[in-house]
Amino acid sequence: MRGRFITLEGLEGTGKSTQIELLRERLSARGLRVRVTREPGGTPLAEKLRELVLHADSAEISPACELLMMFAARAAHLQGVIQPALAAGEWVLCDRFTDASYAYQGAGRGIPDAQIRSLEDMVQAGLRPDLTLLLDAPVQVGLARATGRRGAAAADRFEREGQDFFERVRAKFLDIAAHEPGRVKCIDADRPLEAIADDLEAQALKLLSLHEKNQPA
Ligand code: TMP
Repeated sequence: MRGRFITLEGLEGTGKSTQIELLRERLSARGLRVRVTREPGGTPLAEKLRELVLHADSAEISPACELLMMFAARAAHLQGVIQPALAAGEWVLCDRFTDASYAYQGAGRGIPDAQIRSLEDMVQAGLRPDLTLLLDAPVQVGLARATGRRGAAAADRFEREGQDFFERVRAKFLDIAAHEPGRVKCIDADRPLEAIADDLEAQALKLLSLHEKNQPA
């Protein structure tokens, strides 16, 4: 039986990396085979693209170039990791996916949704997450945590953006959640770690009960 594909989204500093590890532990404890991965990244080629798109100090990376790098990394990641893992029955937990392209390159950089959709159709050939967990918090909360963690000097190309950029990104994530309430669950990330982890686990377990119902007897 095919595994399930769960993505985590949210602004920087909303605790995605910590939460994805907690979710891995909790799902593994239930006997599921879980694969944790991230975007951009997840394969050697996609990690090289990640390094370039996040850290290249270059005006050469236009919005279109940035979008294409995200989807180039995604194509490699789907082929090399996500598709084989799902086919082998693993549950894939992915730190960011295509909703981030609509939020950052779409709302953030101004690329029309229709252009992003055509790349999504080309690269994903119908594959969409079964569940997306959106960790939502006010922009200031996330940014304060993200810069506190790394220091302003070590900020990547996105972390150097201003509040307006992140307000557009956050609004887009919330808009996607409002339009796709079946797939995208919005979780208040401005709460204690354990409370957030409990909510994420509860959402994933709903998928597990659907999964079990669909298992042949
Ligand atoms: P993070 O994984 O440490 O949060 O960093 C990844 C950065 O890449 C983050 O700022 C969001 C950005 N990003 C996009 O702009 N578009 C995308 O499609 C993805 C997957 C990430």
